[in-house]
Amino acid sequence: MKCPFIWRLAVLGLTVCTIIASADPVSPVTQAKNSRLDWWRDAKFGMFIHWGIFAIPGRGEWVQWNEQIPCDQYAKLADQFNPTNFTPATWAALAKSAGMKYMVLTSRHHDGFALFDDGTNTFTATHSAAHRDFVAEYVKAVRDAGLRVGLYYSPLDWRFPGYILPDIQRQSADAMRDQYHRQMKELLSNYGKLDVLWFDGGETDWLSFGGKWQGAQWVKRATDPNHKGVYLEHYKGGFSWQHDQVYKMLRQLQPDIVINGRADMPEDFHSREGWGALGDFDNQHAWELCVPMAGAWGYSVNAKVKPLADYIQLLVKVVGRDGNLLMNVGPDRNGKVDNAQISRLHEIGAWLDKYGESIYSTRGGPFLPADWGVSTYRDQTIYLHVLKWAGEKITLPNIPVKILKATALTGGNLNFSQSDGGIEISLPAESQDPVDTIIALELDSPAKAISPVK
Ligand code: GLC
Repeated sequence: MKCPFIWRLAVLGLTVCTIIASADPVSPVTQAKNSRLDWWRDAKFGMFIHWGIFAIPGRGEWVQWNEQIPCDQYAKLADQFNPTNFTPATWAALAKSAGMKYMVLTSRHHDGFALFDDGTNTFTATHSAAHRDFVAEYVKAVRDAGLRVGLYYSPLDWRFPGYILPDIQRQSADAMRDQYHRQMKELLSNYGKLDVLWFDGGETDWLSFGGKWQGAQWVKRATDPNHKGVYLEHYKGGFSWQHDQVYKMLRQLQPDIVINGRADMPEDFHSREGWGALGDFDNQHAWELCVPMAGAWGYSVNAKVKPLADYIQLLVKVVGRDGNLLMNVGPDRNGKVDNAQISRLHEIGAWLDKYGESIYSTRGGPFLPADWGVSTYRDQTIYLHVLKWAGEKITLPNIPVKILKATALTGGNLNFSQSDGGIEISLPAESQDPVDTIIALELDSPAKAISPVK
């Protein structure tokens, strides 16, 4: 029986599609995303800055909410916001000295105070005692320092009851959304090229802080106990952020900008939050861990810094899991970062000056994180970051390429052997570095071809 013309056409179409698909299995959308992320993946380490009028009380960026300070009273802090002897170039120099390659500043946090010029809206830095557009100053300083520029932005604004009760306060919620769309347009249009837009609090499920009214009681909507921040029960009300419109504008105005996923838009990278959220190895989806260096995210009086080893080991564990680390400082009302944090940042920078080749422009793997530590690779070199020795030896599974040479970058003479049974490396105890012993393995072919091994 003769196959009908329409079917032959369909088969031909399918064959062509299959050929195209097998020649290029990565979709154009994924390709665009990957190339946007190239610099970001190489950068590995960035500085997060939480700063605003919340720095004045010095009890963290949630002070207004936590202490239920009325909006009009809280807004008076703007009259005291005047860091006369400060310019954001100091922050950029500090980030650079720490070996950080990008920065992300809170252009507007949940309290609604904007660090930028927002026209007739008076709750901004341009209408504060400072009369300055700190976003403009910051963007210029960061660019001048040769770093990548990022802005944090929170669609959520506590001044709008519509955030808490999006349905019965619909007008307020809609006004909050109008502000969000307007401010996005300003930030994306008025400050030149931006590299990162870091959303927070724009997830629809986060409305009312993830709660709902039920039988005259406020209850939390169900979340997945195994995945922090993943809601099993979704917001079902009538309010919409209309994020799709913002996303369209964002890609038109700043085609190369990379964004996280905290506003229900197609994310370039996923955000993990806090010291306890290191998580698993993932080289399929770009991700970033953000942590406060000390205390809360916003300035906290007497925040305690951790030992240097904690920061370095965290950076190494993140990069070895194929992620980025965004480490936060919360400067005081004068824009000043605590001296103890400055010293630590310099120490981290000194470590990266020495060992940055095992961090920057690497990818995580191919040895998956294990008890002994993590690994990174670039071209034909694998870097082992040994964080815990059991005696003088570590044993790794074998890999399908030949190791030509093994060197301890942190010093000492090591012995190694490679056989079908595995790779054995030994280093005398006195040459082991208590923070991170780095061993470079030179291979006879690119490490990229090796699948992750456990
Ligand atoms: C949270 C907090 C916020 C902080 C952010 C940093 O979402 O609401 O205060 O800015 O995490 O990741």
